[in-house]
Amino acid sequence: MSKAPSLVARGLTRRYGGFTALKGVDITLQSGEIRGLIGSNGAGKSTCMDVLTGRGPDLIGEVQLEGVDISKLSERARRRAGLARSFQKTNIFPELTVRQQVALAARRAEFDNTEEVLSELGLMPHADRLAGDISYGDQRRVDLALTLVGRPKVLLLDEPAAGLTLEESLSLARMLRALAEQWKLTVMLVEHDMEVIFSVCDHLTVLHLGEILTEGSPEAVRSNPEVVKAYLGSTFA
Ligand SMILES: Nc1ncnc2c1ncn2[C@@H]1O[C@H](COP(=O)(O)OP(=O)(O)OP(=O)(O)O)[C@@H](O)[C@H]1O
Ligand SMILES: [Mg+2]
Repeated sequence: MSKAPSLVARGLTRRYGGFTALKGVDITLQSGEIRGLIGSNGAGKSTCMDVLTGRGPDLIGEVQLEGVDISKLSERARRRAGLARSFQKTNIFPELTVRQQVALAARRAEFDNTEEVLSELGLMPHADRLAGDISYGDQRRVDLALTLVGRPKVLLLDEPAAGLTLEESLSLARMLRALAEQWKLTVMLVEHDMEVIFSVCDHLTVLHLGEILTEGSPEAVRSNPEVVKAYLGSTFA
């Protein structure tokens, strides 16, 4: 893992009316790392991904992608610059085939590596099926495929394993780790299952009420009493 940061963000802030959902969060992702972003429901994890990717109005904060300031770019331009994101809820069109869907995302990313992505994610057998007809686990792989078109530099994945069994989630995590190494991706992953987090992440950031509670190795975070109190509860105490 090289030491140059892929993504540096400063002062990420998001207000909804009088409520501040994200309060000046700083995040630095080192090139090639898989970062876990954890925290209770409503901590601000999805909002953090929104602000990083330029989604929505009134975004505050500075974002640098591989040394280039992308803070003023639109959501779409940030995507083309190499910052890709998946959503908490599946984002697929059930009436399109898997291949059509991935190709559509590739057009938006302005770089067509549809066939490569389908093949890497093991989706070739389903490529010509309607996305609505494949299993939920395969649909989640399509969500991941949509982020990988255009060969992005940084992937922000918002609960990509939500709704999967533990076994399926761990398998997705292994696939992610292999892809990250092979494609030299930097990943930030939101995930609630600690077994999945500990199996794949190099480093963790814990959000609590819109602020960073702590950052560190999975072991350090797991044994931090504040984290246990605010988030992990007795499960990992
Ligand atoms: N559109 C919105 N309008 C008002 N408040 C919002 C909006 N979106 C999010 N919030 C609030 O902002 C806070 C952070 O929400 P966010 O969705 O980022 O949390 P999260 O950490 O992703 O939670 P979860 O684990 O449930 O996905 C929450 O209190 C939420 O209710
Ligand atoms: Mg969320």
